[in-house]
Amino acid sequence: MSAHLYAPEGFDVALSKRWFEPEGYTYEAYRKDDGYDALEKVLKMDPDEVIEQVKASNLRGRGGAGFPTGLKWGFVPKESDTPKYVVVNADESEPGTYKDRYTLARDPHSMLEGAAICAHAIQSHDIYIYIRGEFGLSYRRLMAAVKEAYDKGVFGDSSMGSGYKLDCYVHRGAGAYICGEETALLESLEGKIGRPRLKPPFPAVVGAFGGPTVVNNVETMACVPLIFTRGLDWFLGQGSDKNGGPKLICVSGHVERPGVYEVPNGMPCDEFIALAGGIWKGRSLKAVIPGGSSTPILKPQPCQVLAKEGQPESEWPLETQVPLDFDNLKAVGSMFGSAGMMVLDDKTCIVRTLSTLADFYAHESCGQCSPCREGTGWSAKMLRRIEDGSGTEEDVRTLKSASDYMLGMTICVLADALAMPVQSYLEKFADEFAAHLESGKCPYPEYDLAPTGDAFWEDGQ
Ligand SMILES: Cc1cc2nc3c(=O)[nH]c(=O)nc-3n(C[C@H](O)[C@H](O)[C@H](O)COP(=O)(O)O)c2cc1C
Ligand code: SF4
Repeated sequence: MSAHLYAPEGFDVALSKRWFEPEGYTYEAYRKDDGYDALEKVLKMDPDEVIEQVKASNLRGRGGAGFPTGLKWGFVPKESDTPKYVVVNADESEPGTYKDRYTLARDPHSMLEGAAICAHAIQSHDIYIYIRGEFGLSYRRLMAAVKEAYDKGVFGDSSMGSGYKLDCYVHRGAGAYICGEETALLESLEGKIGRPRLKPPFPAVVGAFGGPTVVNNVETMACVPLIFTRGLDWFLGQGSDKNGGPKLICVSGHVERPGVYEVPNGMPCDEFIALAGGIWKGRSLKAVIPGGSSTPILKPQPCQVLAKEGQPESEWPLETQVPLDFDNLKAVGSMFGSAGMMVLDDKTCIVRTLSTLADFYAHESCGQCSPCREGTGWSAKMLRRIEDGSGTEEDVRTLKSASDYMLGMTICVLADALAMPVQSYLEKFADEFAAHLESGKCPYPEYDLAPTGDAFWEDGQ
């Protein structure tokens, strides 16, 4: 496996730079590449100035929502009677997403440095890393990196010799997808059942142990040092408008080369698929799930939103040519989410795909809200019926109305994470649902299961 397969030719890779170096995950390897220089610099800066730089970088959260990172840090009150906390979300469980485990296993110090910079910016002395319980290699490498960071004086009573006290704790989850939702994560971190909290208050004001807290994704944190070492111009240059920095995208499904790719934010989706070797077995593209299982599906159909003013309809770009960033994907009715792309070829059954996703969300619902608990469960049952040929038109209508009652009605967005795909699949592939009902069986018997990109993952060693 060589690095050039995983980035466009000539692209100045930064987030995955050390992934393919032997022992690239060690403190020595990181330090050799100017690692921890950014922290040294930042510890001498005024915390507000640090936040302003992060705001100016247009860094957006890589965990799912794409929230501006500097803005989030700026919400943390300056004065607080309780300690403030930095929490790194390393739970990574969204189907199709497997980038953070690479950073944790192959370059953990970049994430630790980003978290340390965040701590200084919000004047916190405690970093918690909440890591998915199933991770083996990522967990071991992370623990080794935290120990190295203590030994080398990154953490401890005087971070980088600055006199600033900084501690770091690692907490393992127990295998619940919902604990990736930031407030469920905080509940779990506090030793309670991992169930999302009602918001407001948001974690920036009342977070871990009642203190103001920043929760950021692993990749978000790994981006932060680059803003200070490579500089704002470089960082902005790696991204698109309002979407700063490089981006890790994991692609699975029916492409020739599934895997994690580092690309500039805003790369057109069709170019990205070509980079991943194109559609496998010489087949054609049926659909793209762009940002993880919860994101609405894209179809290779003409898209007015992407067209220039006055462009005739026959020349409109296809929906699947959308530039991959948070704003452009939103404009075409989908989301970038956690950038876990799934590519589906022309032999794929859309109903079976949705049915599989519904089973996942029904299983992972925490059960607090009726629209989610009942809606995900019943949607999964109806979809299974439609797929096996015993569904009715009434099932399809109920599926749609159930999704209407799930959207925006619940404590967290897990219910939306199924309702949004349901609505987009029903709208864009109505003919496939109808074909199942009419023929009384699935019209796609040759459906091929593709390996997911993380089938190549070396965890568990
Ligand atoms: C059901 C659910 C699962 C989530 N899982 C994750 C996850 O595994 N990792 C993650 O970073 N964010 C996850 N999120 C998003 C977090 O709630 C939160 O927005 C994110 O950690 C903030 O970090 P960011 O601003 O750096 O993106 C999830 C959200 C929901 C609703
Ligand atoms: S939406 Fe679902 S997962 Fe989220 S709090 Fe409600 S029941 Fe739990």
